[in-house]
Amino acid sequence: MLNMKKGLIVAVVAALFMALAACGKSTETSSPSGSKEEGNQKITVGTDAAFAPFEYMEKGKIVGFDVDLLDAVMKEAGLDYELKNVGWDPLFAALQSKEIDMGISGITITDERKQTYDFSAPYFEATQVILVKEGNPVKNALDLKGKTIGVQNATTGQEAAEKLLGKGNHIKKFETSVVAIMELLNGGVDAVVTDNAVANEYVKNNPDKKLQVIEDPQNFASEYYGMIFPKDSELKAKVDEALQNVIDSGKYAEIYKKWFGKEPNIEGLKQ
Ligand code: ARG
Repeated sequence: MLNMKKGLIVAVVAALFMALAACGKSTETSSPSGSKEEGNQKITVGTDAAFAPFEYMEKGKIVGFDVDLLDAVMKEAGLDYELKNVGWDPLFAALQSKEIDMGISGITITDERKQTYDFSAPYFEATQVILVKEGNPVKNALDLKGKTIGVQNATTGQEAAEKLLGKGNHIKKFETSVVAIMELLNGGVDAVVTDNAVANEYVKNNPDKKLQVIEDPQNFASEYYGMIFPKDSELKAKVDEALQNVIDSGKYAEIYKKWFGKEPNIEGLKQ
């Protein structure tokens, strides 16, 4: 009887000991992800580097306004990061699977995207414009009726074109904005709808291509770019705080002037 009791106590103590050991193990294995939250681990940032002047490849490096802004913000936040050129459509998939921790890619903050992702505070104001060959009779967005339009797939350019002209084969979707513009040069589409700064940059850098930018504020609303995160990411608060500091310190204006040659309208970012 006494022996049996003893045996039971030994068994219980042994079980307790094993349970405790297992506990210790599990806290140990969870520590690497714990250190990520403390900011010791590299943050992976995705982009689609075919969107000059925001992000594009130059001599094997990703450069652009977004790249400089990201660097300033991450330094301010004390976060170690790596910027990866993953492409446009894959960027959103990689955010959902949390393969990447955030994205910066001239991404417009939209209500639809906000259902799936979180955004930083707005950092750039933009609008859609029409890119056509010089001398084209198109004067505004309504003139696009009956034309074939090129857009980058799943962008606000596609959305704007479909809103004006309805969905269908007249809207040709391309993997990058650059390919859409190539198609315009080749005569595969009559016009491209894309973000204003991107259209302006292309025309400025390629005067020989004889393209023209048409603005139509009546048909194309203001858009605001934000850095994007998986929903409920802890990074958002840190990035927002750092972004505000980068704006307040004048660093934002410095980067803006480097890429756009003029002072930014910071008040306009407050919407
Ligand atoms: N602003 C547009 C959007 O969010 C186009 C962005 C495309 N960016 C890029 N890096 N390709 O839909």
